[in-house]
Amino acid sequence: MVTRDQVLDALRDVEDPELHKSIVELDMVRDIGIQDGRIKVDALLTISGCPLRETIVESIRTKVGAIPGVHEVEVNLGVMSQDQRQALIGKLHGGQASPRGRSSFLTPETPTRIIAVASGKGGVGKSTVTVNIAAAIAQRGHKVGIIDADVYGFSIPKMLGVHGRPTLIDQMIIPLEAHGIRVISIGFLLPDEDQAVIWRGPMLHKTLTTFIGEVHWGEDLEYLLLDLPPGTGDVSLTIAQTLPQSYMLLVTTPQEAAAQVARRAAKMAEKVNMEVIGVIENMSYYRPAPDASAVYIFGQGGGAALAKELEVPLLAQIPLDTPIREGSDQGIPVVLSAPDSPAAKAFRQAADLLLAALPVPARG
Ligand SMILES: Nc1ncnc2c1ncn2[C@@H]1O[C@H](COP(=O)(O)OP(=O)(O)O)[C@@H](O)[C@H]1O
Ligand SMILES: [Mg+2]
Repeated sequence: MVTRDQVLDALRDVEDPELHKSIVELDMVRDIGIQDGRIKVDALLTISGCPLRETIVESIRTKVGAIPGVHEVEVNLGVMSQDQRQALIGKLHGGQASPRGRSSFLTPETPTRIIAVASGKGGVGKSTVTVNIAAAIAQRGHKVGIIDADVYGFSIPKMLGVHGRPTLIDQMIIPLEAHGIRVISIGFLLPDEDQAVIWRGPMLHKTLTTFIGEVHWGEDLEYLLLDLPPGTGDVSLTIAQTLPQSYMLLVTTPQEAAAQVARRAAKMAEKVNMEVIGVIENMSYYRPAPDASAVYIFGQGGGAALAKELEVPLLAQIPLDTPIREGSDQGIPVVLSAPDSPAAKAFRQAADLLLAALPVPARG
């Protein structure tokens, strides 16, 4: 005889593919009918257009079907009412939907490690570093996300080859996913991706706080990288206020002038009490052939000097390398597209040293 508890246990293994949580935890299971080996499961989806309903149905059939004695599984899907959805979102915020009592959103108390990637000026490879470090972290089996906070010059969607609109469950935004990285960018929300953003300060602040507070990052998210706009100012302040536990990772090129402007970003970090966790020097050298000696196109020593001055580690020196540029143009970070290249190795080294420098996120 199949029992209700057996069916509930099986359903605990069925995850909502967008919320990354068990449908039992999410109160989506509304009724279970058992008649000998015939099981009927009534479940509620968050929204009627739920693009992943087939995945959920299949998963329910498979898990419940695996219980000894079950020979038929009927699944009926309904849709939550507005009130039920609001209750669910409230739970996700309060963390009561989780046995570990954590919020699925980023809060000042989140155990997720937050790393703001900053540079003094544009074009030094800040976005390239962000996607490659994230890809390397994901490769190590960690849950990682990116907030593209460079609202005016966003490039993360293209670099990760991810396009489309995030699912909205009322006011809650589900991040898109690419190469195992959860991503949100203003590029996903504009009517046309090539559109110029002409928002002013307050809207920038609002967009960023929305990306932090209204995106369902998931309580299992271990690391979050923020691709900051070049320069300093407003955005660092917003981040420091909303996520006071953030660290700053500085990206610079080797020449003294670039390191000098990166210093300003470091000063800003200090002002808002953000700890600089390390420096990555990009475009450090170029090797025309694998056995050729290095050519220092942008000079030498800027990254090391900056790291020494700030008393933080120089996490890596990334070479100038064609696969890096090709990878970002094709939407595949070089860490994944050319994993054996010197550039990919340098990025993996940087990611490993970064993870080692950060306190280990508490896991449930
Ligand atoms: N080490 C590198 N080797 C080759 N191309 C690079 C390297 N780093 C960045 N690039 C390329 O330089 C351009 C600017 O990099 P990007 O990451 O967009 O800079 P930022 O975000 O600082 O403005 C991109 O086209 C990128 O592919
Ligand atoms: Mg950029």
